[in-house]
Amino acid sequence: MAPHFLIRGGRQLSGAVRVGGMKNAALPILFALLLVRDEVVLENLPPVTDIETTLQILCQMGAELTRISPTAIRINTKNADPDAVPLNLTTELRASAYLLGAGLGRFGRATTGLPGGCDFGARPLDQHFRLLEALGAVIAPEENLLCASAPGGLRGAKLRLDFPSVGATVNGILAAALAEGTTIISGAAREPHIVDLANFLNACGAQIAGAGTSTIRIDGVSRLHGTRYRIIPDMIEAGTYLCAVCGTGGGLRLDDICPAHLDPVLLPLRKMGAEIAVSESHLTAKRTGALYGTVLETAPYPGFPTDMQPQFAPLLCLSRGGGRIYERVWNSRFQYTAELERMGGRILPGKDFADFPGGDRLTGARVRATDLRGGAALVIAGLCAEGMTELYDIRHIERGYPQLVEKLTAIGAEIACGND
Ligand code: EPU
Repeated sequence: MAPHFLIRGGRQLSGAVRVGGMKNAALPILFALLLVRDEVVLENLPPVTDIETTLQILCQMGAELTRISPTAIRINTKNADPDAVPLNLTTELRASAYLLGAGLGRFGRATTGLPGGCDFGARPLDQHFRLLEALGAVIAPEENLLCASAPGGLRGAKLRLDFPSVGATVNGILAAALAEGTTIISGAAREPHIVDLANFLNACGAQIAGAGTSTIRIDGVSRLHGTRYRIIPDMIEAGTYLCAVCGTGGGLRLDDICPAHLDPVLLPLRKMGAEIAVSESHLTAKRTGALYGTVLETAPYPGFPTDMQPQFAPLLCLSRGGGRIYERVWNSRFQYTAELERMGGRILPGKDFADFPGGDRLTGARVRATDLRGGAALVIAGLCAEGMTELYDIRHIERGYPQLVEKLTAIGAEIACGND
């Protein structure tokens, strides 16, 4: 039958976790490989299904791939064919929208299926299209397909985004890297994964300045060359383990992290009672006293990340005093709360927020992951709950958390993967 996690809650977590490479940095870099007709070695790729799907897309397009280890590849897209895009795979993930920018940049045209990914209500692509059109692309959305071409070639342009969209900023950088002239994107996303994409492309010879600020300047170059590159650590995976230990109590050491990226998450965790000591590439976190409530408000980086709000929800349920989460990035990202309620969490929905009265006792239940981070929230709830939780639809979680069962088991959790 369906694969699921069996979690017996109530155990404190203690030990060390090595954090993997960041999925949302690796995805744009993998699509950026199409711009580089040369051999590239990528290290610290997280072994998760979204990365596997992307590698399959590239291979079916004709990329030559050698696996060096579970987290490192050697890849060359010099023979990639724009007409060989496996459309059925592109609908499985959001990042397939990056085929537009990368395809236009490399081939002057691109076709992809409608990008999939987590369901947070409307996920428009208007900002992507505005940027690509400003560069000279013509986008023709057909039924279940996105087709783009650049009849007169791509030329640098100036454009201000209405919202600092991660995906639109990525697509703009991909399309502009090999375009003629200079592109300036203002109102750009500032996430660490944008910086990682720019660093990767610059390592291949691109001229990109200002990534990490809201104005990015891309001076188009005529060709990119191969390189060896290491993906940055995943701040969301790190934050998820921090929420887990904050919920169960105990102490954890996180290795291979970039502490500066974690600041927006460490702040609320400290308010809630976690003691956290940070050094250059690792941190230790413990909670031995009470768990307090707080108010969270998601925002683009460097604000509190929307990809961390679900993981805080079980903590707010358990906390003294409770709290509130405002969701300001997505218009529908609270689906997971219905599942948390099955476990005894009390959640009062508002227009763009959810209230948590706090002081709840969580108990094991049969629940399902509604999306990637909502699924992670239910894993945390299961670890904190009394009794057994059966968590279904774990394919959502496997898209973004490498070796979750192994990593949690190593720090004392009772979690197994069932298949009946
Ligand atoms: N938006 C528009 N028009 C656009 C693009 C976005 O209105 O053309 C709006 C969206 O509707 C949303 C907001 O802008 O309200 C943010 O969207 P953004 O484009 O920044 O998100 P994304 O690129 O589709 C990435 C991550 C998400 C993460 C968001 C926000 C990847 C593959 N996905 O999505 O990650 O939530 O940025 O930080 O990088 C996850 O990993 O669990 C995940 C969902």
